[in-house]
Amino acid sequence: MSYNEVQNKASRTFEKIMPYDLYTNPAILQEEMENIFSKSWQLVGHVSQVETIGQFFTTEVAGEPLIIVRGNDDVIRAFYNVCPHRATKLEKKESGKKKILQCGYHGWTFHLDGQLNKAPNFRGDDLACVNNRCLRSVRMDIQESLIFVNLDDDCKPLSESYGDFFDRLRKYPFLGELKKVNTKTRVIKANWKAFIDNYLECDHCHVAHPSFIATLDMNNYQIITCENYSFQGTVVKPDKTMGNVDLNEAEMQGGEFFWLWPNLMVTIYPGPGNLATIQMIPIDHETTLGVYTYYFRDENLTQKEQDLVTFAEQVRQEDVELVELEQVGFRSRAFEKGVYSKSEKAIVQFHDMVMEALGK
Ligand code: FES
Ligand SMILES: [Fe+2]
Repeated sequence: MSYNEVQNKASRTFEKIMPYDLYTNPAILQEEMENIFSKSWQLVGHVSQVETIGQFFTTEVAGEPLIIVRGNDDVIRAFYNVCPHRATKLEKKESGKKKILQCGYHGWTFHLDGQLNKAPNFRGDDLACVNNRCLRSVRMDIQESLIFVNLDDDCKPLSESYGDFFDRLRKYPFLGELKKVNTKTRVIKANWKAFIDNYLECDHCHVAHPSFIATLDMNNYQIITCENYSFQGTVVKPDKTMGNVDLNEAEMQGGEFFWLWPNLMVTIYPGPGNLATIQMIPIDHETTLGVYTYYFRDENLTQKEQDLVTFAEQVRQEDVELVELEQVGFRSRAFEKGVYSKSEKAIVQFHDMVMEALGK
């Protein structure tokens, strides 16, 4: 879909309102797992987590246990972390380095490319019936050092799934130098979609984020909807600082906040080379795990980088408090349908996509 088509779609459906029982009905989450999280690209990690042969990490997407590992041929692959003998979760650790993957139940072993190595309880002629039992692979793609998987084997390639998003990202020359520095998690007492809604508009910034609006030129704040993603941002006010960060350097003028369908946010703040990802992973229909990952050039943060993290964390905490209050109201009989302001078109796009995915 072209940019203009997306724009027209957003305005055509401006009056279409999300039924907010999608934020409070426990049955909806199962539908979302099947129709949204099992059919979309999900960020699982960064190449710096599997830098050398045999390095691996494990994760979960839509309730499916997965393992990402760098093979002897230097290729990074993703598999279901499930033994083909009797389903046992194969690797229990979150990360590590292995020459071979071994199941802890009956001792089957697998090469790093997923092929079966040994099945000790099958011998002689019996071996023939299991030697093609390899680990089931998962669609995986890497863009800008970010590792994504998609549980849908028939999905579009990642590079074709988000319009020109990765081209936009590539304009930041420092991205290739960044490493995953740390991950913070927050348990948020709200439906996962409430946080996405919050991220997709900045009408609330004037009320809720005094440090943000003091720093950025809100008169030129823009929100642009594109194919399966949107982005927003503005420039820094002249002679301003981001927290305590001095912004008088060329690199400091960046600053864009991207959303990618369905639950990934990628932020680049004005300041020293930085990138942060935010993922909203549903725990249940009214509880969400927020995963916030920071990427900088080095694990040992400079004072400027630490100040940037402090600034971002402050804004995020302000948002968490808002969405938790919103969830209280979603449950109330007083609230049935919301309304969208003209500057909330990225929410309209998100809501349209949710309703289309769920067949609503
Ligand atoms: S379940 Fe893995 S070896 Fe039997
Ligand atoms: Fe906010």
